[in-house]
Formats: sequence, structure tokens, C-alpha cells
Amino acid sequence: MTKTDSISAPRAAKLSVAPMMDWTDRHCRYLHRLLSKRTLLYTEMVTSPAIVRGGAVHLLDYNPEEHPVALQLGGSDPAELAEACKIAADLGYDEINLNVGCPSDRVQSGAFGAVLMENIPLVAECVAAMRAASDVEVTVKCRIGVDDQAPEEVLPEFIARVAAAGAGRFQIHARKAWLQGLSPKENRDIPPLDYDLVLEMKGLFPALHLSVNGGITTLDQAEEFLERGMDGVMIGRAAYHSPADVLCAADRRIFGTDGPDSDPVEVVHQMVPYIERHIANGGRLHQVTRHMLGLFTGRPGARGWRRVLSEGASREGAGPELLLEALDRVTGGDIGVEQAS
Ligand SMILES: Cc1cc2nc3c(=O)[nH]c(=O)nc-3n(C[C@H](O)[C@H](O)[C@H](O)COP(=O)(O)O)c2cc1C
Repeated sequence: MTKTDSISAPRAAKLSVAPMMDWTDRHCRYLHRLLSKRTLLYTEMVTSPAIVRGGAVHLLDYNPEEHPVALQLGGSDPAELAEACKIAADLGYDEINLNVGCPSDRVQSGAFGAVLMENIPLVAECVAAMRAASDVEVTVKCRIGVDDQAPEEVLPEFIARVAAAGAGRFQIHARKAWLQGLSPKENRDIPPLDYDLVLEMKGLFPALHLSVNGGITTLDQAEEFLERGMDGVMIGRAAYHSPADVLCAADRRIFGTDGPDSDPVEVVHQMVPYIERHIANGGRLHQVTRHMLGLFTGRPGARGWRRVLSEGASREGAGPELLLEALDRVTGGDIGVEQAS
């Protein structure tokens, strides 16, 4: 889909697939786009130092079909973030998102990610600089607080001040990040979810576009949050592990389109020319198929599908015919059902 054919990022943000390092790369996003035309897709986090100081502009490569697509930036230097925004805007991203939610050590040492919840004026300065650098919408993904902060105090203050600096949309991961003592993975599960606080923010800031994130696994849940007043729902791990369950019916159920739901079997066939191009350009099969392992999760043949791909896709010379062989396990009546991990 080209940028002009796709819907705008604010409309698409009714449902989004969360930024996930090492997971939501451009191959994953291409797959997700085939499953849903409307859902907003986020890149993995790319740091502004890598782009501006490291010259790693290739990290911003994406397929034109991915629109609407948002770039997530990590950083805390307003001038550097502004420079990164300019570069990203020229490349045609539909939205630029600032990461104020990631608790990993590497990110803490660079003084960005979730630790920025403790420095609201700096976040506001970053957002203002990013807004001034281009016409692309700037949004912020945050937590409800970190460590011993009181979320009911810090979150409204954060939103008010960062919105005043120019962010019109927020994606709120509805749990704290504990910067000491928990690994990044534990920080996605252990701090308790507080959806009520996020819903309260919508009451406090009716003019802002607020998305809820964290622990949401089904379209039923997403619909419930939208009915309760949230503007958007962001889904991370469930969209990655069971992409068909989350995305195949999303255009109809969340965005109200008329067409038929996407069909994962058809999508596998649509991935073949993409994979052929990738391999012709020197890429490897498994770089794409690793994102497809969960495509039939919970359906007959899922285990065979996953096994054929995980055993064969890294072999020298493996090509898209392996995909069709794996598909045979699904369409050919193999009944190994596999549950979501
Ligand atoms: C493997 C992985 C990588 C992640 N990388 C990022 C990231 O780069 N930026 C970010 O803001 N959040 C990142 N997250 C957090 C997700 O965006 C999301 O906030 C979190 O997983 C909670 O949502 P969920 O319960 O729907 O998965 C990552 C999560 C996972 C599982």
C-alpha cells in the first residue's frame, strides 16, 4: 500500500501492533500488513544516536506496502531527536513515536526509555524539538510511572506537559516499569496492570488520542476498551505470536470495513513473491519465516507448519518452496494443533 492509498495514522491508531525490538522488523510488518490493511504498525525502536551519530540510516528502511507505519525513536537529546525526525520525515513515515517505556539497561544507560518518566521537562523539550523539525505527527509511548512514583500523580502531569509540548497521541503501557531489580522481560509481566488509571486519563484529557497497551490478547478485549472510551488499543506479544487471531478480522471488527477477513493461507501465498525478492537480494528465508511461525497457532496443522519452517528455513539454499511444503501440513489435514505460547 502506498502512503496515499493508506488511511491516516490517527485513524489507524484505533488498533496498532506495538513496537518490539528484534520482532517488528520490516519483514514482520509486511506480513502484518497483508493480514490487516488498516492496523497501524510500529517499527522496532531505533535510537537517534544510531541514526544521527552512527549514520545507520539503513535501520529506517521499510517497504512502501507497510503504510500506515510509525517509526519509534529512542533518545533524550532534543537536537539529535529533531535531526532523526527530519531524516525519518523525508523517508515518508506516517508518525514518529518517542519511547518513554523501555526499561532495558542499555536504554537506561543512554538516559532514555522509561527512565524519562522521571524527567518530564526533558521529554517535553524533546517532543517540542521533534515537532518543530518536521510536519510528521509526534506521539509518545509511556508507562504509568517508574519505581516509587505515584502513577495517579505522575501520569496526568506527564500527559498534560508533554501534550502541551506538541504530542497529540499517547500509547500508555498500563503498568509501571521497575528500573531496579527486574529484567526487561519481567517488566512486561510483573508490575500489575492498572487499566482503570488509563481509562481515567481519557476522562481527564478528552481531546487527546489515548491508546491502552499491556496484556491485551484478543479483539474482544480491544473492542471493549474502545467501547469504554479509549481511542486506540495497542497489542504487542499476542499480535506477534498469534497474528491471524489478532489481525485477520481487525479491518472488519475494529475499522468497520465491508470486505472479507484476510485468510492466512492466502497470505502465505502472497508472501512467496516477497520472499523471492528478499532472497534474490541476498537475504535468507528464515529472516522472514521466523515471523510466520505463529500464523496458524491454535489451528489444525499448526505444529507441522512450525516444525517444517523451524527445521528447514535456516538451511543453505532454502527457498519459498519450503513455505508451500509447510502449508501442506495445514491444508493437507495434519491435525497437530498448537496453542499460543
Ligand atoms: C520482544 C519485545 C521487544 C520490545 N521492544 C520494545 C521497543 O522497542 N519499544 C517499546 O516501546 N516497547 C517494546 N516492547 C514492549 C511492547 O511494545 C509492549 O509495550 C509490551 O509488550 C506490552 O504489550 P503486550 O502485553 O501487548 O505485549 C517490547 C516487547 C517485547 C515482547
